[in-house]
Amino acid sequence: MEPRLIDPFARAITYLRVSVTDRCDFRCVYCMSENMTFLPKKELLTLEELDRMCSAFVGLGVEKLRITGGEPLVRKGIMTFFDGMTRHLESGALKELTLTSNGSQLARFADDLYAAGVRRVNVSLDTLDDEKFARVTRWGRLPQVLKGIDAAQKAGLRVKINAVALKGFNEEELLEITEWCASRDMDLTWIEVMPMGDMGETDRVGQFWSLDDVRAQLAQHYTLTDLAERTGGPARYVQLNETGQKIGFITPLSHNFCESCNRVRMTCTGELYMCLGQEDMADLREPLRSSESDGPLIEAIHKAIGLKPKGHDFDYSRQQADGQMSRHMSHTGG
Ligand code: GTP
Ligand code: 5AD
Ligand code: SF4
Repeated sequence: MEPRLIDPFARAITYLRVSVTDRCDFRCVYCMSENMTFLPKKELLTLEELDRMCSAFVGLGVEKLRITGGEPLVRKGIMTFFDGMTRHLESGALKELTLTSNGSQLARFADDLYAAGVRRVNVSLDTLDDEKFARVTRWGRLPQVLKGIDAAQKAGLRVKINAVALKGFNEEELLEITEWCASRDMDLTWIEVMPMGDMGETDRVGQFWSLDDVRAQLAQHYTLTDLAERTGGPARYVQLNETGQKIGFITPLSHNFCESCNRVRMTCTGELYMCLGQEDMADLREPLRSSESDGPLIEAIHKAIGLKPKGHDFDYSRQQADGQMSRHMSHTGG
């Protein structure tokens, strides 16, 4: 069997995003409903199973692992998992071990993450205003996250900020957030809000704010240079000549990166989603549990990759008609 993962459109799959928990200590309005029901713990892959899964993918050519959630750092014992992945970094098979976090627990874990070989972390932060932060996360505390970012930078981790663009919410903070990131030498990525889960309350906090508009507003204050580089991720980048800073734009509703898609995502129960915007998935937990050897698992992974679609089919126009995707972002880890 082919030792690498190549999908039907000749794309090599080298990037696995793994959600290690569906739980989070925040409830961002665009991500979760206020009274989310979380999965029973016994449904989750154990830490040992997560290790086996990820190791199988690394054996099949995955070079980048991004750990997500929910909030990955609220998973009990998660450092055991990170420490386990260090061996793949040391062997050279894995090139990057990283995570996307809300920052709330970073002060506690930053040094240990660095010791495990993590060098970068993406932190979600939509506003620098205490009261607005509490509103968008429903009860999060901004100072705790800022402390986490400080600790991460002190530990030697490079921090990238992800901000979801919400009209009438963080629109007026565009320059402040940009300058704050520049002053701390952090890259910043703006994300268009995606129609996932239960979006009802998003309307009350802010609305869809197009990144074309974010860009146009930035261009009134800075000189923007388009950067050709693509990091294998969905973002397009510009550089602000005045600050030297890189700003990314993720517009998931355009098909601009599907053709070079290199990623798949696994949920905390071992479902493999071939595309963020499609419902097709393959269960890997059963083949994992069915045998002590990895044979059935590896076969199931190959079969699943054979189903990867050419592109996603997000469509805002469907939103009113038959409802948006019912899957929450915290299920597949964004
Ligand atoms: P790098 O590629 O390592 O820079 O990370 P990233 O920016 O993809 O990761 P991060 O977890 O910070 O994700 C930022 C946003 O991009 C999240 O809202 C994700 O849901 C979104 N995103 C990531 N990958 C995809 C993808 O394949 N398709 C779409 N539509 N959105 C994605
Ligand atoms: N639309 C866009 N981004 C979202 N995120 C969570 N839910 C949504 C959504 N509906 C973002 C978080 C985080 C990243 C992993 O996903 O803010 O930055
Ligand atoms: Fe938690 Fe991130 Fe979802 Fe907010 S966006 S509720 S921090 S998983």
